[in-house]
Amino acid sequence: MYFNQKVVWITGASSGIGEALVFALAKQGAKLILSARNENTLQAVAKKANLSKENYLIIPFDLADTSLADSYVQQIIQKFNRIDILINNGGMSQRAEAIATTKATERNLFEINYFAQVALAKAVLSIMVKQQSGQITVVSSIAGKFGFYLRSTYSAAKHALHGYFESLRLEVEKNNIKVLMVCPGKIQTNISNNAILADGSKHAKMDESHVDAMTAEECAKKILSAIEKNKQEILIGRKEILTVYIKRFFPKMLYKILKKQSPY
Ligand SMILES: NC(=O)c1ccc[n+]([C@@H]2O[C@H](COP(=O)([O-])OP(=O)(O)OC[C@H]3O[C@@H](n4cnc5c(N)ncnc54)[C@H](OP(=O)(O)O)[C@@H]3O)[C@@H](O)[C@H]2O)c1
Repeated sequence: MYFNQKVVWITGASSGIGEALVFALAKQGAKLILSARNENTLQAVAKKANLSKENYLIIPFDLADTSLADSYVQQIIQKFNRIDILINNGGMSQRAEAIATTKATERNLFEINYFAQVALAKAVLSIMVKQQSGQITVVSSIAGKFGFYLRSTYSAAKHALHGYFESLRLEVEKNNIKVLMVCPGKIQTNISNNAILADGSKHAKMDESHVDAMTAEECAKKILSAIEKNKQEILIGRKEILTVYIKRFFPKMLYKILKKQSPY
């Protein structure tokens, strides 16, 4: 029961991996802060997780605008008096060729998948440094390890997370703050439905490759196990995660494999 009584802030808590994390953490007696855009959806998740009022807080906001991040942290401190873990999970994918993707869509993808994670981490760090303890988990992707068709900006934002948070890990270790990078492969969620096209509109289709992928529940279990074990990085998924090792040892071979893959 590592998470019992721990104060855990989860972004992207309304769906997929984030929702599965809420259910798993609620079972272990954690105190949870749920964030995503829609308050009603988050309330429904809290209800389904059987969370009692004193054990959860809902902070709805758009990851594209984190200007109030410090005030969210104050709300959390007022209610729970500390923050043990931030799970920077919320994110949005892309299904559009680089040439067609508008500048506005590129900036939006970076706000949601990179700048928001940085802003929230900095906001909680002020508290974690005072506490001299804390854990920051960042949900990246195998797209943070290599580029792929129709994912140019998404993949770039996920790569950027590694540069930022690997640097941060070195800097905050002295404060007893740990950083975990999570790289899922394909997980059965609404990620492809919610992915955006070149002009920012929704892809609104479930990719074939996600249909029989690992479940969000299994993924959440592996994330929590990695947090508990203080791991620095984990790959989660089925055979698709082998691509990360192929890239490391045989990069040209990976390129040949990727060329033949469907983007969906
Ligand atoms: N599923 C996969 O195969 C896969 C693979 C690699 C990495 N990942 C990563 O895993 C994380 C979770 O994704 P998922 O698979 O669980 O997908 P999902 O089911 O689409 O969930 C995405 C979550 O992010 C939130 N979100 C998206 N845009 C937001 C915004 N602008 N402001 C606030 N919240 C926003 C959504 O909430 P609202 O829409 O309700 O606001 C939702 O809770 C993401 O970072 C994703 O990149 C997923």
